Amino acid sequence: MDLFNLRSLVILLSAVGRCNGQSVLPAGPLEGVQGKNVTFKTIIMPTDVGNFITVSWNFKGASGLVAVVTSAPKGETVGAGYAGRVSLNSSTGELKLGTLTAKDSGDYAVTMVTSAAEQRTGVTALRVLEPVSVVTIKSNLNEAFEFNSTVVLTCSAKGSFLMYKWLNGTAPLVADGNHVTLSANSTVLTVAGVFRKDLVGPIYCTASNKLESNSSAPFNLTVSYGPENVTMTVTPTGEVQKKGSNITLTCSAQSSPVAVLQWIHNGVPLNVMGPKLVLANIAEAQSGNYSCMASNAKTLRYLESTTAKFTVVEAISGTKITGPNGTLVAGISTATLSCQASAGTAGTREWLKNGVALSPSNRVVVSADKSSVMIEPVQKEDSGEYQCKLTNAVNTDSASLKILVNFGPEAVSVKGEIAVEVNAPVTLKCTSVSLPAATYTWKFNGTLTGVMTAEYIIEAAVYKNTGIYTCEASNAITGLSTAVAHKLSVKEERTLDDGLTGGQVAGIIIGVLIALVLIIAGVLYMRRKKRPIESPY
Ligand SMILES: *[C@@H]1O[C@H](CO)[C@@H](O)[C@H](O)[C@H]1NC(C)=O
Ligand SMILES: *[C@@H]1O[C@H](CO)[C@@H](O)[C@H](O)[C@H]1NC(C)=O
Ligand SMILES: *[C@@H]1O[C@H](CO)[C@@H](O)[C@H](O)[C@H]1NC(C)=O
Ligand SMILES: *[C@@H]1O[C@H](CO)[C@@H](O)[C@H](O)[C@H]1NC(C)=O
Ligand SMILES: *[C@@H]1O[C@H](CO)[C@@H](O)[C@H](O)[C@H]1NC(C)=O
Ligand SMILES: *[C@@H]1O[C@H](CO)[C@@H](O)[C@H](O)[C@H]1NC(C)=O
Ligand SMILES: *[C@@H]1O[C@H](CO)[C@@H](O)[C@H](O)[C@H]1NC(C)=O
Ligand SMILES: *[C@@H]1O[C@H](CO)[C@@H](O)[C@H](O)[C@H]1NC(C)=O
Ligand SMILES: *[C@@H]1O[C@H](CO)[C@@H](O)[C@H](O)[C@H]1NC(C)=O
Ligand SMILES: *[C@@H]1O[C@H](CO)[C@@H](O)[C@H](O)[C@H]1NC(C)=O
Ligand SMILES: *[C@@H]1O[C@H](CO)[C@@H](O)[C@H](O)[C@H]1NC(C)=O
Ligand SMILES: *[C@@H]1O[C@H](CO)[C@@H](O)[C@H](O)[C@H]1NC(C)=O
Repeated sequence: MDLFNLRSLVILLSAVGRCNGQSVLPAGPLEGVQGKNVTFKTIIMPTDVGNFITVSWNFKGASGLVAVVTSAPKGETVGAGYAGRVSLNSSTGELKLGTLTAKDSGDYAVTMVTSAAEQRTGVTALRVLEPVSVVTIKSNLNEAFEFNSTVVLTCSAKGSFLMYKWLNGTAPLVADGNHVTLSANSTVLTVAGVFRKDLVGPIYCTASNKLESNSSAPFNLTVSYGPENVTMTVTPTGEVQKKGSNITLTCSAQSSPVAVLQWIHNGVPLNVMGPKLVLANIAEAQSGNYSCMASNAKTLRYLESTTAKFTVVEAISGTKITGPNGTLVAGISTATLSCQASAGTAGTREWLKNGVALSPSNRVVVSADKSSVMIEPVQKEDSGEYQCKLTNAVNTDSASLKILVNFGPEAVSVKGEIAVEVNAPVTLKCTSVSLPAATYTWKFNGTLTGVMTAEYIIEAAVYKNTGIYTCEASNAITGLSTAVAHKLSVKEERTLDDGLTGGQVAGIIIGVLIALVLIIAGVLYMRRKKRPIESPY
């Protein structure tokens, strides 16, 4: 209606001069922003430029028709309320209107008269837009729970003709129409069953019109979730742990806010919270099942880790063999060896003799629990180093004991001359196998001689040395002794035929040589006589 009224005005004005009928203003409406400037451009023929005598702008607002600015040969007249706000190009008729307010919205008309008294006119509407401001995101929730919460974000802004857009970080937010939905006018973003990462973009809302756009402050919402993936590790690993060692258990969980971790031993909560449980100097009572319970104070969800199980075993130490403390005599004594540890329990026991597994026999009997070995009676071959090895899940400990079995004397014998000539030396040697080594006594013809060494030595034999020599080997520990007799005869010089003198040897050699010569001579003689027969031709 206003526009219609203004047109009437223009038509009225046109009646004054001649008019070519074409509007010098582009089709509107023209838009401007409050607080900013707007320029009304004119469309004129090049020949008209600088050829206007008067240019006159009028405004038809709520309060009626108002003169904005008029340029005439005598000067420029600025209408009331437009001082300092307008800038008119008298050559083109273009008007720049400054610092717009809402009141500037309305119809504007220009009338320009050329030097040829021709009139150019135009009418257009100006729409003053409110600036885009106070773009804010409001959430229906201050805190959200993953999967459970539906978050509704509403974007609001001040301004005219607004359109809304959402950004997730720097990328446009994509509504899938299911998990994430947007209202038709895009002001309401709904995230149903929110996920932990949905709203940490951060999220921005942008409100805009044709001229301006403005964004909200970044919005993010912490979504509580978890605990999930509650994982526990034990270091060192192993089903069996050595008593006195240190064990560290660690627990982790994915959770927001951070989960409270509580340790559990054999189903009983321990008074220990936090991701680490250090068991120092562990005792057997600390064996069992360990787990950790993660709980989230916000989601009120809790989840237990898998269970780790271990047994604390004391290492075997102080292993000792107790053995016979008296002396052992072959064939008489009984030896009992028993093996005990001062700490730890043996799982397996093993007996070794001189480094190889002890082989039981009818004399060597290992007790059913292998804690002792009884040898009844001991024999000389039982001497040696006995070792007992105790093993359990955490270690092996061993002890050894040397055992000596006294025996003998055995295999007593006398070696030496049987017959010698007068003045020849004689050495009789008595030997035996015995532990400890045997002592010897010699008798001659049944009478003790006082010789107590293994050898009986006569430097130069005399006739009365002929007789029976008896060596008696004795073992003071076994109390055993064995006597062996040896007969010696002392004879006149050169009466023994079991030796040849130098002359006798020479005689034999000469005799043999002579015989050889005779044989060779005989053979040669026989061959010569046979020759004629050997060659019949
Ligand atoms: C008026 O507009 C013309 C053409 O755009 C330009 O050349 C001239 O400088 C302007 N005059 C003023 C006073 O702005
Ligand atoms: C708007 O116009 C006024 C006067 O016409 C001028 O002082 C001001 O600088 C202009 N502002 C802008 C943003 O162009
Ligand atoms: C956006 O709006 C705020 C007021 O809400 C204003 O201070 C700021 O200048 C505006 N930004 C732009 C680019 O228009
Ligand atoms: C956008 O649409 C919602 C309903 O879908 C309505 O409540 C709200 O007022 C609308 N906002 C604007 C600015 O049109
Ligand atoms: C925002 O982006 C992140 C990462 O790209 C994505 O996980 C999340 O779901 C997005 N949020 C929404 C509401 O689409
Ligand atoms: C969310 O915003 C708060 C402040 O508004 C900030 O401290 C926090 O770091 C932001 N979180 C993320 C994940 O961006
Ligand atoms: C955490 O658990 C989820 C399933 O509950 C799984 O998809 C994800 O890979 C796990 N993350 C890690 C780091 O183990
Ligand atoms: C166990 O930890 C304690 C300190 O808590 C340390 O003194 C000790 O040596 C550690 N024992 C072993 C076997 O590592
Ligand atoms: C440890 O857990 C196992 C099952 O995993 C159970 O049979 C056993 O009795 C538990 N031990 C203790 C000491 O609770
Ligand atoms: C989430 O929803 C499930 C069932 O839908 C419910 O059992 C649970 O208590 C809810 N959790 C929270 C934190 O609201
Ligand atoms: C070893 O001697 C002690 C006393 O010295 C005695 O009590 C113990 O019975 C003896 N052991 C054997 C195996 O003879
Ligand atoms: C020793 O006995 C032998 C016969 O056995 C005898 O011939 C010899 O004369 C005896 N010698 C002495 C010194 O009695």
